[in-house]
Amino acid sequence: MWSTHVAYLLALPLSSASAVNALQPKDYEPSLYQEGSCQQACETFASEYPGRLHYEDADTNFTIWDQKQLQTVYVCRVEPASASEVSKVVQVLVDNWCRFAVKCGGHSRYPDDSVSVGGVTIDLGLINGTVVSDDRTTARIGGGALTRQVFAALDPYGLGYVGGRVGQVGMGGFTLGGGTSVLSAKYGWALDSVLEYEVIVLPNATIATVSENQHPDLYYALRGGGNNFGIVTSFNVTVFPQGLVYAGSRTFGDDQTDRFLEEAEKIFTLEDAEDTNVVLEYRYAYSAAQDRYTMSSTQRYAEPVSNPPAFDAMNAIPALSNLSGGITSLAASTSFSGPLGQTRNIFASVAHYPSVELGKQAIRIFKDNVRSLGNMTGVNPELITYSIPAAAIENMKARGGNALGIDVKGHLVINLLSVSWANSTSDDAAYSFADHFIGDFRQAAESLGVLHPFIYINYANKGQDVFSGYGEENKQKLIAIQKDIDPRGVFTSSGLWRGFFKVR
Ligand SMILES: Cc1cc2nc3c(=O)[nH]c(=O)nc-3n(C[C@H](O)[C@H](O)[C@H](O)COP(=O)(O)OP(=O)(O)OC[C@H]3O[C@@H](n4cnc5c(N)ncnc54)[C@H](O)[C@@H]3O)c2cc1C
Ligand SMILES: *[C@@H]1O[C@H](CO)[C@@H](O)[C@H](O)[C@H]1NC(C)=O
Ligand SMILES: *[C@@H]1O[C@H](CO)[C@@H](O)[C@H](O)[C@H]1NC(C)=O
Ligand SMILES: *[C@@H]1O[C@H](CO)[C@@H](O)[C@H](O)[C@H]1NC(C)=O
Ligand SMILES: *[C@@H]1O[C@H](CO)[C@@H](O)[C@H](O)[C@H]1NC(C)=O
Ligand SMILES: *[C@@H]1O[C@H](CO)[C@@H](O)[C@H](O)[C@H]1NC(C)=O
Ligand SMILES: *[C@@H]1O[C@H](CO)[C@@H](O)[C@H](O)[C@H]1NC(C)=O
Ligand SMILES: *[C@@H]1O[C@H](CO)[C@@H](O)[C@H](O)[C@H]1NC(C)=O
Repeated sequence: MWSTHVAYLLALPLSSASAVNALQPKDYEPSLYQEGSCQQACETFASEYPGRLHYEDADTNFTIWDQKQLQTVYVCRVEPASASEVSKVVQVLVDNWCRFAVKCGGHSRYPDDSVSVGGVTIDLGLINGTVVSDDRTTARIGGGALTRQVFAALDPYGLGYVGGRVGQVGMGGFTLGGGTSVLSAKYGWALDSVLEYEVIVLPNATIATVSENQHPDLYYALRGGGNNFGIVTSFNVTVFPQGLVYAGSRTFGDDQTDRFLEEAEKIFTLEDAEDTNVVLEYRYAYSAAQDRYTMSSTQRYAEPVSNPPAFDAMNAIPALSNLSGGITSLAASTSFSGPLGQTRNIFASVAHYPSVELGKQAIRIFKDNVRSLGNMTGVNPELITYSIPAAAIENMKARGGNALGIDVKGHLVINLLSVSWANSTSDDAAYSFADHFIGDFRQAAESLGVLHPFIYINYANKGQDVFSGYGEENKQKLIAIQKDIDPRGVFTSSGLWRGFFKVR
């Protein structure tokens, strides 16, 4: 899909920028003059932001997690360093009617999600500071910051925030979509820890401060609405004292999965009721190289307690490996930044009410799909599962509530199907695997009466209907707020900022 688009753009001669400017947006025909209009915008940026404007063919230092996005051909990439520069950049792009994408940590998976297909990539990477308030209860975090930068900045104060598990993931996408953390049983999801957003909004690309009391509609919409409402240049979030934590891992053979799933569900219940320091994630993976299935657990505790007893029953199950792990800081555990751009990836997601039976069926469905696709050499699928803890769900009602539409007693179970591979020749096999697996999984959940409609935007596959999963009322509310602040549809699927998931 993207490769045809890119090939087309490469063959396209540059059209005159002035002819482009004379056209009104309603006459806009993207394929005819898109690159010409962006050329003009890029020239403006080149003179305004010397050293921070990179044309694609000379942008050799640019890298990003997903290889498909790395191979995406844009016209230029600009690195604004402040909110007022982001505001000016957006003004220039709208004036030239040039398409764009916005990049923070760059951990999304499709071209145009955060690297523009044939337009301008706005790279927020220089807006990465963290400032702690005098009373040490809040911090202002730049809209382009990475998880590891934030943990590293808070660590000297002995503070933590609701951050992600992987250091290279961005504050921006993570927090706008939801943000599940190893601290979520205690402090909720990241989107509910945001007190204030500084955000570039339309129609005039002005800088707005959005909170429970200022623009409450937009405040609701930014908590789950993704990239539909504006470019966030800073997040003001709650922070809290945080010391060292425990993380351990242990892998089990395929013959132990039934027993494992029974113990895992008991631990999810424990996270809710008895001890919010407890966190469990597990992943069921197929290794194409070894033609083998394994179940791995990550066992966590939000205090420096080695081998917490909450995991004893799970660890009594015969395992393939000894328990390995230890005590570390969240800053240290997220500091690694590995090589980027090596793998092609897709995610897809299903949420459901607790059901060990469905967990068992999901494994059978996973294997059936691996088998029915035959020899998928090099395609590595894994199903990652954890809980949306009861306390995190309760916290979603705070400050007027968020847009996600999750309102249940107790916990839900969230599943991320992650498929990675290295060669574009396997693209079709990987997409097909994901579609079939998710279709079968949802059907099994429906049959058991345990499907929850929520589809986590940060784990969703292209084509999954994220906003319908928030519930009809939330979806319509998001659409109405979007129309109200962006009547021309600049940030919509027919406007300039088209990638990722759009409410309209
Ligand atoms: C290795 C890995 C580990 C992960 N771990 C977790 C985890 O522990 N918990 C979890 O909840 N999720 C996790 N995720 C999912 C992650 O939250 C999403 O992929 C998220 O969208 C990534 O955000 P980003 O800023 O890195 O990506 P980007 O691709 O830069 O951004 C994603 C989308 O958000 C938009 N966006 C980004 N910043 C802004 C901004 N400041 N203003 C407006 N729009 C913006 C972009 O335009 C883009 O459309 C993980 C993903 C990966 C690949
Ligand atoms: C790439 O980064 C290096 C190190 O920061 C810098 O010296 C070099 O000029 C950069 N190259 C380009 C093309 O921007
Ligand atoms: C975050 O917002 C609160 C409430 O408006 C404010 O009191 C606090 O100073 C802000 N924090 C920072 C670091 O700016
Ligand atoms: C912000 O980004 C710049 C440029 O990549 C980097 O030099 C700096 O260390 C980063 N700041 C923080 C706090 O990580
Ligand atoms: C904002 O844009 C609208 C529509 O383009 C225009 O009518 C209005 O005057 C602008 N407001 C400011 C403060 O520039
Ligand atoms: C587990 O630890 C024991 C004792 O140190 C060791 O003998 C054994 O080989 C280990 N098993 C595995 C699977 O690593
Ligand atoms: C898959 O193909 C590879 C390479 O062609 C081969 O080595 C392997 O045995 C095959 N696996 C299966 C399960 O057929
Ligand atoms: C991808 O696979 C094709 C077909 O098997 C092969 O010709 C090509 O060399 C591979 N590319 C890479 C980068 O491995």
